[in-house]
Amino acid sequence: GERFLDLWRVFLAACSFVFVAILAAVFLALRRGPRADDTTPPDLTTVNRPEPAARRNVTRAAVVSGLALVALIAASAFTDRALARLSLAQAVHVEVTGNQWWWSLRYTDGADVHDIFTTANEMHIPVGRPVLLKLDAADVIHSFWVPSLAGKKDLVPGRTALLEIRADKPGIYRGQCAEYCGLEHALMGLLVIADPPDQYEQWAAAQRQPAPDPADAKAQRGKQVFQSSSCAMCHAIEGADFAGAQHAPDLTHVASRETLAAGTLKNTPGNLSAWIRSPQTFKPGTAMPATPLSQDDLDAIVAYLGELK
Ligand code: CUA
Repeated sequence: GERFLDLWRVFLAACSFVFVAILAAVFLALRRGPRADDTTPPDLTTVNRPEPAARRNVTRAAVVSGLALVALIAASAFTDRALARLSLAQAVHVEVTGNQWWWSLRYTDGADVHDIFTTANEMHIPVGRPVLLKLDAADVIHSFWVPSLAGKKDLVPGRTALLEIRADKPGIYRGQCAEYCGLEHALMGLLVIADPPDQYEQWAAAQRQPAPDPADAKAQRGKQVFQSSSCAMCHAIEGADFAGAQHAPDLTHVASRETLAAGTLKNTPGNLSAWIRSPQTFKPGTAMPATPLSQDDLDAIVAYLGELK
Protein backbone atom coordinates (compact mmCIF):
# COMPACT_ATOMS: atom_id res chain seq x y z
CA GLY A 1 0.00 0.00 0.00
CA GLU A 2 2.64 2.52 1.11
CA ARG A 3 4.80 1.79 -1.90
CA PHE A 4 1.96 2.48 -4.28
CA LEU A 5 1.35 5.78 -2.55
CA ASP A 6 5.02 6.69 -2.94
CA LEU A 7 4.96 5.71 -6.59
CA TRP A 8 1.80 7.70 -7.11
CA ARG A 9 3.41 10.77 -5.52
CA VAL A 10 6.44 10.47 -7.78
CA PHE A 11 4.18 10.29 -10.84
CA LEU A 12 2.08 13.19 -9.61
CA ALA A 13 5.13 15.38 -9.01
CA ALA A 14 6.73 14.54 -12.37
CA CYS A 15 3.53 14.96 -14.36
CA SER A 16 2.60 18.21 -12.58
CA PHE A 17 6.03 19.61 -13.32
CA VAL A 18 5.79 18.70 -17.02
CA PHE A 19 2.25 20.07 -17.23
CA VAL A 20 3.26 23.42 -15.71
CA ALA A 21 6.38 23.61 -17.88
CA ILE A 22 4.34 23.03 -21.04
CA LEU A 23 1.76 25.66 -20.06
CA ALA A 24 4.59 28.11 -19.36
CA ALA A 25 6.13 27.39 -22.75
CA VAL A 26 2.79 27.92 -24.50
CA PHE A 27 2.21 31.25 -22.75
CA LEU A 28 5.72 32.34 -23.58
CA ALA A 29 5.24 31.47 -27.23
CA LEU A 30 1.90 33.33 -27.33
CA ARG A 31 3.42 36.44 -25.81
CA ARG A 32 6.37 36.43 -28.17
CA GLY A 33 4.38 35.78 -31.32
CA PRO A 34 3.85 38.78 -33.62
CA ARG A 35 0.46 40.51 -33.35
CA ALA A 36 -1.64 40.23 -36.49
CA ASP A 37 -5.23 40.72 -37.66
CA ASP A 38 -7.34 39.63 -40.63
CA THR A 39 -5.64 42.03 -43.01
CA THR A 40 -2.04 41.17 -42.17
CA PRO A 41 -0.47 39.34 -45.15
CA PRO A 42 1.07 35.99 -44.21
CA ASP A 43 4.73 36.21 -43.38
CA LEU A 44 6.44 33.26 -45.02
CA THR A 45 9.99 34.35 -44.38
CA THR A 46 10.05 32.46 -41.06
CA VAL A 47 9.50 29.16 -42.87
CA ASN A 48 13.01 29.07 -44.26
CA ARG A 49 14.76 31.10 -41.59
CA PRO A 50 17.00 28.85 -39.47
CA GLU A 51 16.26 29.11 -35.73
CA PRO A 52 19.22 27.54 -33.93
CA ALA A 53 18.08 28.66 -30.47
CA ALA A 54 14.62 27.16 -30.88
CA ARG A 55 16.10 23.99 -32.32
CA ARG A 56 18.42 23.66 -29.32
CA ASN A 57 15.54 24.20 -26.89
CA VAL A 58 13.36 21.59 -28.57
CA THR A 59 16.22 19.09 -28.54
CA ARG A 60 16.86 19.73 -24.84
CA ALA A 61 13.18 19.39 -23.98
CA ALA A 62 12.98 16.13 -25.93
CA VAL A 63 16.01 14.71 -24.10
CA VAL A 64 14.61 15.79 -20.71
CA SER A 65 11.21 14.22 -21.54
CA GLY A 66 12.90 11.01 -22.60
CA LEU A 67 14.95 10.84 -19.41
CA ALA A 68 11.91 11.63 -17.27
CA LEU A 69 9.95 8.82 -18.92
CA VAL A 70 12.80 6.36 -18.36
CA ALA A 71 12.98 7.47 -14.71
CA LEU A 72 9.23 6.92 -14.23
CA ILE A 73 9.43 3.48 -15.86
CA ALA A 74 12.33 2.63 -13.53
CA ALA A 75 10.38 3.85 -10.48
CA SER A 76 7.43 1.71 -11.52
CA ALA A 77 9.64 -1.35 -12.07
CA PHE A 78 11.37 -0.89 -8.71
CA THR A 79 8.01 -0.64 -6.94
CA ASP A 80 6.94 -3.83 -8.68
CA ARG A 81 10.10 -5.64 -7.61
CA ALA A 82 9.85 -4.34 -4.05
CA LEU A 83 6.32 -5.75 -3.89
CA ALA A 84 7.50 -9.06 -5.33
CA ARG A 85 10.19 -9.24 -2.65
CA LEU A 86 7.75 -8.90 0.24
CA SER A 87 8.36 -11.75 2.62
CA LEU A 88 6.05 -14.72 2.33
CA ALA A 89 6.61 -15.82 5.90
CA GLN A 90 3.30 -16.45 7.63
CA ALA A 91 1.42 -15.69 4.44
CA VAL A 92 -2.31 -16.22 4.23
CA HIS A 93 -3.24 -18.28 1.16
CA VAL A 94 -6.46 -17.62 -0.69
CA GLU A 95 -7.69 -19.16 -3.93
CA VAL A 96 -9.64 -16.54 -5.82
CA THR A 97 -11.89 -17.75 -8.61
CA GLY A 98 -13.62 -15.34 -10.95
CA ASN A 99 -17.14 -16.26 -12.02
CA GLN A 100 -19.80 -14.44 -14.02
CA TRP A 101 -20.25 -12.27 -11.91
CA TRP A 102 -18.94 -12.99 -8.47
CA TRP A 103 -15.80 -14.02 -6.64
CA SER A 104 -15.23 -17.31 -4.91
CA LEU A 105 -12.66 -17.12 -2.08
CA ARG A 106 -11.20 -20.30 -0.66
CA TYR A 107 -8.90 -20.04 2.35
CA THR A 108 -6.51 -22.98 2.17
CA ASP A 109 -4.30 -22.55 5.24
CA GLY A 110 -4.20 -25.00 8.09
CA ALA A 111 -3.08 -28.55 8.61
CA ASP A 112 -6.55 -30.01 8.66
CA VAL A 113 -9.14 -30.13 5.88
CA HIS A 114 -11.61 -28.63 8.31
CA ASP A 115 -9.42 -25.53 8.45
CA ILE A 116 -10.22 -24.82 4.83
CA PHE A 117 -13.24 -22.63 4.24
CA THR A 118 -14.92 -20.85 1.38
CA THR A 119 -16.61 -17.50 1.22
CA ALA A 120 -17.57 -15.10 -1.55
CA ASN A 121 -17.16 -11.52 -2.66
CA GLU A 122 -15.69 -10.25 0.61
CA MET A 123 -12.13 -11.14 1.48
CA HIS A 124 -10.94 -10.53 5.02
CA ILE A 125 -7.17 -10.28 5.41
CA PRO A 126 -4.99 -9.57 8.45
CA VAL A 127 -3.22 -6.20 8.51
CA GLY A 128 0.54 -6.42 8.08
CA ARG A 129 0.66 -10.02 6.88
CA PRO A 130 1.31 -10.99 3.27
CA VAL A 131 -1.56 -12.64 1.46
CA LEU A 132 -0.77 -14.90 -1.47
CA LEU A 133 -3.61 -15.09 -3.94
CA LYS A 134 -3.95 -17.92 -6.43
CA LEU A 135 -6.08 -16.54 -9.21
CA ASP A 136 -8.16 -18.61 -11.60
CA ALA A 137 -11.41 -18.25 -13.49
CA ALA A 138 -14.32 -20.60 -13.95
CA ASP A 139 -15.78 -19.27 -17.18
CA VAL A 140 -14.28 -16.28 -18.96
CA ILE A 141 -11.35 -13.95 -18.29
CA HIS A 142 -11.79 -11.65 -15.31
CA SER A 143 -9.31 -9.32 -13.67
CA PHE A 144 -8.60 -8.85 -9.99
CA TRP A 145 -8.19 -5.20 -9.21
CA VAL A 146 -8.01 -3.61 -5.78
CA PRO A 147 -6.31 -0.32 -6.68
CA SER A 148 -5.11 0.52 -3.17
CA LEU A 149 -3.41 -2.84 -2.69
CA ALA A 150 -2.03 -4.03 -6.01
CA GLY A 151 -2.04 -3.64 -9.75
CA LYS A 152 -4.49 -5.54 -11.94
CA LYS A 153 -3.99 -9.24 -12.45
CA ASP A 154 -6.00 -11.24 -14.94
CA LEU A 155 -7.83 -14.41 -14.01
CA VAL A 156 -7.61 -16.72 -17.01
CA PRO A 157 -9.59 -19.97 -17.06
CA GLY A 158 -7.26 -22.93 -16.55
CA ARG A 159 -4.19 -20.84 -15.88
CA THR A 160 -3.25 -20.10 -12.30
CA ALA A 161 -1.70 -16.73 -11.61
CA LEU A 162 -0.15 -15.60 -8.34
CA LEU A 163 -0.50 -12.21 -6.75
CA GLU A 164 0.77 -11.05 -3.41
CA ILE A 165 -0.97 -8.31 -1.49
CA ARG A 166 -0.54 -6.78 1.92
CA ALA A 167 -2.58 -4.14 3.68
CA ASP A 168 -0.66 -1.93 6.08
CA LYS A 169 -3.73 -0.20 7.48
CA PRO A 170 -7.05 -1.64 8.60
CA GLY A 171 -10.04 -0.69 6.51
CA ILE A 172 -12.23 -1.69 3.61
CA TYR A 173 -10.54 -1.69 0.22
CA ARG A 174 -12.92 -1.62 -2.71
CA GLY A 175 -12.07 -3.91 -5.59
CA GLN A 176 -13.61 -4.45 -8.97
CA CYS A 177 -13.35 -6.85 -11.88
CA ALA A 178 -11.23 -4.97 -14.39
CA GLU A 179 -11.64 -7.08 -17.52
CA TYR A 180 -14.89 -6.95 -19.47
CA CYS A 181 -16.54 -10.29 -18.76
CA GLY A 182 -20.10 -9.88 -19.94
CA LEU A 183 -23.30 -8.08 -19.11
CA GLU A 184 -22.74 -7.51 -15.40
CA HIS A 185 -19.00 -6.89 -15.49
CA ALA A 186 -19.64 -3.56 -13.79
CA LEU A 187 -21.49 -5.30 -10.95
CA MET A 188 -18.62 -7.65 -10.13
CA GLY A 189 -17.40 -5.84 -7.08
CA LEU A 190 -15.16 -7.13 -4.36
CA LEU A 191 -14.45 -5.91 -0.85
CA VAL A 192 -11.11 -6.56 0.79
CA ILE A 193 -11.53 -6.01 4.50
CA ALA A 194 -8.23 -5.61 6.33
CA ASP A 195 -8.70 -6.47 10.00
CA PRO A 196 -6.27 -6.12 12.91
CA PRO A 197 -4.65 -9.58 13.39
CA ASP A 198 -6.71 -10.73 16.39
CA GLN A 199 -9.94 -9.61 14.75
CA TYR A 200 -8.96 -11.48 11.59
CA GLU A 201 -8.33 -14.68 13.57
CA GLN A 202 -11.76 -14.35 15.15
CA TRP A 203 -13.32 -13.91 11.75
CA ALA A 204 -11.45 -16.91 10.29
CA ALA A 205 -12.37 -19.07 13.28
CA ALA A 206 -16.03 -18.15 12.82
CA GLN A 207 -15.87 -18.86 9.08
CA ARG A 208 -14.42 -22.33 9.76
CA GLN A 209 -17.46 -23.24 11.81
CA PRO A 210 -20.25 -25.04 9.99
CA ALA A 211 -23.54 -23.22 9.81
CA PRO A 212 -25.47 -23.46 13.07
CA ASP A 213 -28.80 -25.25 13.11
CA PRO A 214 -31.66 -22.76 12.88
CA ALA A 215 -32.71 -21.54 16.29
CA ASP A 216 -36.42 -20.84 15.86
CA ALA A 217 -39.26 -22.49 14.00
CA LYS A 218 -39.40 -19.91 11.24
CA ALA A 219 -35.73 -20.26 10.37
CA GLN A 220 -36.06 -24.02 10.66
CA ARG A 221 -38.75 -23.88 8.02
CA GLY A 222 -36.56 -21.57 5.96
CA LYS A 223 -33.93 -24.28 5.89
CA GLN A 224 -36.47 -26.76 4.58
CA VAL A 225 -37.66 -24.32 1.91
CA PHE A 226 -34.07 -23.67 0.91
CA GLN A 227 -33.51 -27.39 0.57
CA SER A 228 -36.64 -28.13 -1.42
CA SER A 229 -36.39 -25.15 -3.78
CA SER A 230 -33.75 -24.55 -6.43
CA CYS A 231 -31.45 -22.68 -3.97
CA ALA A 232 -29.65 -25.79 -2.80
CA MET A 233 -28.77 -26.84 -6.34
CA CYS A 234 -26.22 -24.03 -6.66
CA HIS A 235 -25.43 -22.65 -3.19
CA ALA A 236 -23.48 -24.49 -0.53
CA ILE A 237 -24.11 -24.15 3.19
CA GLU A 238 -21.52 -26.09 5.18
CA GLY A 239 -22.98 -28.03 8.04
CA ALA A 240 -26.43 -28.13 6.50
CA ASP A 241 -27.38 -31.09 4.34
CA PHE A 242 -26.54 -29.32 1.12
CA ALA A 243 -22.87 -28.58 1.28
CA GLY A 244 -21.80 -29.73 -2.15
CA ALA A 245 -22.99 -27.18 -4.67
CA GLN A 246 -20.34 -24.74 -5.86
CA HIS A 247 -22.07 -23.02 -8.76
CA ALA A 248 -22.88 -19.92 -6.76
CA PRO A 249 -21.57 -18.05 -3.73
CA ASP A 250 -21.11 -20.15 -0.59
CA LEU A 251 -23.75 -19.07 1.91
CA THR A 252 -22.42 -20.75 5.05
CA HIS A 253 -21.87 -17.36 6.71
CA VAL A 254 -23.72 -15.08 4.33
CA ALA A 255 -25.13 -12.98 7.17
CA SER A 256 -21.60 -11.91 8.12
CA ARG A 257 -21.16 -10.11 4.81
CA GLU A 258 -21.72 -6.46 4.07
CA THR A 259 -23.17 -6.85 0.61
CA LEU A 260 -25.18 -9.16 -1.63
CA ALA A 261 -24.59 -10.10 -5.26
CA ALA A 262 -20.92 -9.03 -5.37
CA GLY A 263 -21.26 -5.54 -3.99
CA THR A 264 -24.58 -4.84 -5.74
CA LEU A 265 -26.85 -4.50 -2.69
CA LYS A 266 -26.37 -3.81 0.99
CA ASN A 267 -26.97 -6.98 2.95
CA THR A 268 -30.26 -6.26 4.69
CA PRO A 269 -33.24 -8.60 5.16
CA GLY A 270 -35.32 -6.40 2.83
CA ASN A 271 -32.72 -6.47 0.07
CA LEU A 272 -32.15 -10.20 0.51
CA SER A 273 -35.86 -10.83 0.15
CA ALA A 274 -36.12 -8.62 -2.94
CA TRP A 275 -33.02 -10.24 -4.44
CA ILE A 276 -34.34 -13.79 -4.01
CA ARG A 277 -37.71 -12.79 -5.44
CA SER A 278 -36.24 -11.18 -8.54
CA PRO A 279 -32.48 -11.23 -9.05
CA GLN A 280 -32.86 -10.12 -12.67
CA THR A 281 -34.25 -6.77 -11.51
CA PHE A 282 -30.99 -5.93 -9.79
CA LYS A 283 -28.51 -7.80 -11.96
CA PRO A 284 -29.98 -8.63 -15.37
CA GLY A 285 -28.25 -11.69 -16.79
CA THR A 286 -27.18 -13.18 -13.48
CA ALA A 287 -27.26 -16.97 -13.38
CA MET A 288 -29.55 -16.85 -10.35
CA PRO A 289 -33.13 -17.51 -11.40
CA ALA A 290 -36.12 -15.86 -9.80
CA THR A 291 -37.47 -18.19 -7.15
CA PRO A 292 -41.27 -18.28 -7.04
CA LEU A 293 -42.10 -18.57 -3.35
CA SER A 294 -45.02 -17.63 -1.20
CA GLN A 295 -44.40 -14.61 1.01
CA ASP A 296 -44.26 -16.93 4.05
CA ASP A 297 -41.66 -19.18 2.46
CA LEU A 298 -39.64 -16.18 1.33
CA ASP A 299 -39.72 -14.69 4.84
CA ALA A 300 -38.67 -18.06 6.28
CA ILE A 301 -35.65 -18.30 3.95
CA VAL A 302 -34.62 -14.76 4.77
CA ALA A 303 -34.91 -15.59 8.49
CA TYR A 304 -32.79 -18.71 7.99
CA LEU A 305 -30.08 -16.97 5.96
CA GLY A 306 -30.11 -14.11 8.46
CA GLU A 307 -28.97 -16.55 11.14
CA LEU A 308 -25.91 -17.62 9.15
CA LYS A 309 -23.51 -15.20 10.79
CU1 CUA B 1 -15.47 -10.24 -14.24
CU2 CUA B 1 -15.42 -8.23 -15.52
